[in-house]
Amino acid sequence: MERRDCDALVLFGATGDLCYRKIIPALYQLTRRNLLNVPVVGVARQGWNVERLAERVRQSLKDFVPDADAAVADRLIKQLRYVDGDYNDRATFEALRKALGQAQRPLHYLAIPPSMFPVVIAHLAATSNCKEARVVVEKPFGRDLASARALNQTLHEHFPEANIFRIDHYIGKEAVQNLLYFRFANTFIEPLWNRNYVASVQVTMAETLGVAGRGKFYEETGAIRDVIQNHLLQIVAFLTMEAPVRPDGEALRDEKAKVLKSVRAATPAELVRGQFSGYRQEPGVAADSKVETYAALALHLDSWRWAGVPFYLRAGKRLPVTATEVVVEFKRPPLAVFGEQSLGQPNHLRFRVGPDVAIAIGAHTKAAGAAMVGRDVELFVAQQKGDDMDAYEVLISGALIGDTSHFAREDEVEAAWAIVDPLLKVATAPYEYVAGSWGPPQADALIKGECSWHNPGADPHTWTRSCGPSGS
Ligand code: BG6
Repeated sequence: MERRDCDALVLFGATGDLCYRKIIPALYQLTRRNLLNVPVVGVARQGWNVERLAERVRQSLKDFVPDADAAVADRLIKQLRYVDGDYNDRATFEALRKALGQAQRPLHYLAIPPSMFPVVIAHLAATSNCKEARVVVEKPFGRDLASARALNQTLHEHFPEANIFRIDHYIGKEAVQNLLYFRFANTFIEPLWNRNYVASVQVTMAETLGVAGRGKFYEETGAIRDVIQNHLLQIVAFLTMEAPVRPDGEALRDEKAKVLKSVRAATPAELVRGQFSGYRQEPGVAADSKVETYAALALHLDSWRWAGVPFYLRAGKRLPVTATEVVVEFKRPPLAVFGEQSLGQPNHLRFRVGPDVAIAIGAHTKAAGAAMVGRDVELFVAQQKGDDMDAYEVLISGALIGDTSHFAREDEVEAAWAIVDPLLKVATAPYEYVAGSWGPPQADALIKGECSWHNPGADPHTWTRSCGPSGS
């Protein structure tokens, strides 16, 4: 397909926190890499002007890219324009049209509350700001299946699906792309990658931080909406999908959507929700809040490849480490040829998805000595830190050139909401857990296998998990 690049970038919510923390640093890096050479138009209703926006850019770079090159920063600042106005006012969008000059294919980045999407989109359409435009929408994409469908409908009134870019920054992460690459670039994975050899799969996303001043936002969200519906289910899709038939974004998204549709709707009986002690004292949090800061659940896929293999997902704030890991646990060999005492942990494949990138294969080798007794080892490879593109760089540059691979398609997003929808109605109080612990112990009972939850370590080489007939 012919590549059609955007000729301007419009940032709605240009004065907001997301722009300050994530988008501006990414725009700087893209400018440095020569991947951003179009006007950048900030839109907000703060009474700012372009000089004030330039100041904000400098502040953001000072805080998040301390070694920024002054000449590159100047190049970015030279591209800035600013439109001030209310999103409810058509005049704002007429001013935007003017600021865009000759540009015909702007990329509109909606870094604004989702409640503002319909009005902004309607005004964009009415002021011919969206004929050939693309639109980027930030998460959360809806708050349940019904609202996601309604949002999709609103977007489709004026934008074809190919021009809608729904952000889930996990899809842009190097480590998540590596999951896909590792699976399909190696021959030895495929024969084992199914219900005949895989006993279970675990995905843990642990964060030491609490809600970091975002209590009000979190009260509306909770862990299931915040990270499980999107980040964790995207990881599950990358782990379980079939090979795409072509290397393009649509073929990839076809497979992800298909496998997500095979995931059975989750049930409250296989869910444990937790809340860290102290959460209710956070600013913006209700004194009797029932919002979960931790959730653990089991999922089941009704697919030829994965039927009968449980997938255990877990995410939480104020856990002992910040790390996201996947562990694929394999079944035991059919016979204990060297005796039961020689068996250690079952084989596994471990993907460390954040904050660093590593892949490890858990195997057994013989311990030195006369006896045929083994020891658990890991064949470990860590990605060297280089001049990696941050997820937001990958996403913005992808949207500018029209590459959909790193964005969630309508059917994927709706399939993911359909999986968690029954869990969103759970109204019971979550279990309280001690901040800094691994969450409520009730989650242990979710696991119906030989091994306990896998707890990632702060160091990518270390982790704990107990296995054995008694789980010890
Ligand atoms: C965001 C969530 O989408 O992802 C946050 O809203 C979470 O609550 C964050 O902390 C984690 O992202 P990362 O890239 O730091 O793993």
